Amino acid sequence: MTTGIVRPGTGGPVIGLDIGTSAVKAQLVDADQAVVAEAEARLTTHRPRPPWSEQDPEDWWGAVQAVLGTLKRAAPAAYGAVGAIGLSGQMHGAVLLDAGHRPIRPAILWNDGRAVREATQLADRVPDIGRIAGVVPMPGLTAPKLLWLANHEPETIGRLRHVLLPKDYVRLHLTGTIATDPSDAAGSLWLDQAARNWSAAIAAASGIDPSVLPPLLDGTAAAGTLRPAIAGQLGLAPSTVVAVGGGDAAVGGIGIGAVDDGDAYLSLGTSAQFFVTTDAYRPAPETLLHSFAHALPGRWFQMAAMLNGASVLAWAAKLMNEPDLDRLLARVASETTGPSRVMVLPYLAGERTPHNDPNARGVVFGADAETDAPTVARAVLEGVAYTFADALACLRAAGTTVDEAAMIGGGARSALWMQILADVLGLPVYRYRGGELGPAFGAARLARLAVGGESVATVATKPPIRDRAEPDPARHAAYTAGHARFRRLYRALASEFAAQDKGEGTA
Ligand code: XUL
Repeated sequence: MTTGIVRPGTGGPVIGLDIGTSAVKAQLVDADQAVVAEAEARLTTHRPRPPWSEQDPEDWWGAVQAVLGTLKRAAPAAYGAVGAIGLSGQMHGAVLLDAGHRPIRPAILWNDGRAVREATQLADRVPDIGRIAGVVPMPGLTAPKLLWLANHEPETIGRLRHVLLPKDYVRLHLTGTIATDPSDAAGSLWLDQAARNWSAAIAAASGIDPSVLPPLLDGTAAAGTLRPAIAGQLGLAPSTVVAVGGGDAAVGGIGIGAVDDGDAYLSLGTSAQFFVTTDAYRPAPETLLHSFAHALPGRWFQMAAMLNGASVLAWAAKLMNEPDLDRLLARVASETTGPSRVMVLPYLAGERTPHNDPNARGVVFGADAETDAPTVARAVLEGVAYTFADALACLRAAGTTVDEAAMIGGGARSALWMQILADVLGLPVYRYRGGELGPAFGAARLARLAVGGESVATVATKPPIRDRAEPDPARHAAYTAGHARFRRLYRALASEFAAQDKGEGTA
């Protein structure tokens, strides 16, 4: 692995870009790491048929141009002085480019469940794949998608010259460079995590020529500078450095300084993760954890990856015609107590850890004539919290100790959810000051590391703690019983989810 271009520090403002699933987010951060301006542009996900999930890579680029325009208008002086841009992005997406670097077809996203048979095929072809790649094959990861394309769209594979992850496509537009970093490569299933290099055996087993895989650079490396025409169009200096960046799970951790062995955080965005930084590669594929290389050199992480996070609350609120989420959550806090008698399985998008079940779906169980919106909303908060209890059990089974965890992402806006998580997990959960902390902020830190000549320890510091929820022993005991019911309910329904996928009993 090379370390890219080394440049002297600029000490000036930097921009962090996060290519999310629901939106592209951008933050303009000054030399004191204060957020000067931020912007967001929504994205559309296309679902041509269940369980497909696709986005047009050109939409990411359009959204990047829009958010940079907003930053420029909001803080023109700081924007004009920007010395570097860093990148974060949704992981596992397959961005498929032809020889002219054009997308051959829409990108297939992390929450796309079509490649079920191909995941099994890969596991059969490379029996020790979980030890090499840090995770067992699951349909949402990139490699099974390529095998699906080989089986169903051979013409796509015929034209394929480069496979990138979503944030890498944005960097290609900005700099013209083809590259990725170990943390995003990690989620492809093609990375040998210990060696932090591509596994030719897994590439061959997934029907691709290894030459389509991009060069690997550390997330903190400078991948290049802006193409002159793009710099002019964006109103930035052509000398602006673009850092390689990383997958959103790792970069979110960098944003809150979760960079030392044992640092743990819960992320509640569209999806959800329980993330623990490790100082060595610690595979535990039998637990369905993801043990991946970090975007920072010499670090790895263990992650329980859940496909359903704060987005489930947004879905339920919309369904119940409750547009004001804060009001709904205030009613939950004042009108209902936990554990709720109603139980929600939040698996709208299937589940990875601990089930590897793309067929799982959402369930509202135990409703009666009195069940109202706050009761269902509480059951959603609890159901998602139970998925974190599943995650904690996986981490413990892998021998990882967690004493407490930070909470980030959109869901961290709710103090009630933080308390429910603390009670369900039996662990203290805390929030940092600065609601804006997340992958875009971590990406800005990577930009700074790419140009500043500073150490990770100096830049990726932990922010001050805003507040903390301690677990209540009585509620923890009640939620432990609730968690056991939650697991039973999933097990009772697993075969029904599979039958539903086959269309049994439907018109
Ligand atoms: C992580 C995962 C999601 C995506 C989307 O494994 O699938 O978090 O990165 O943000």
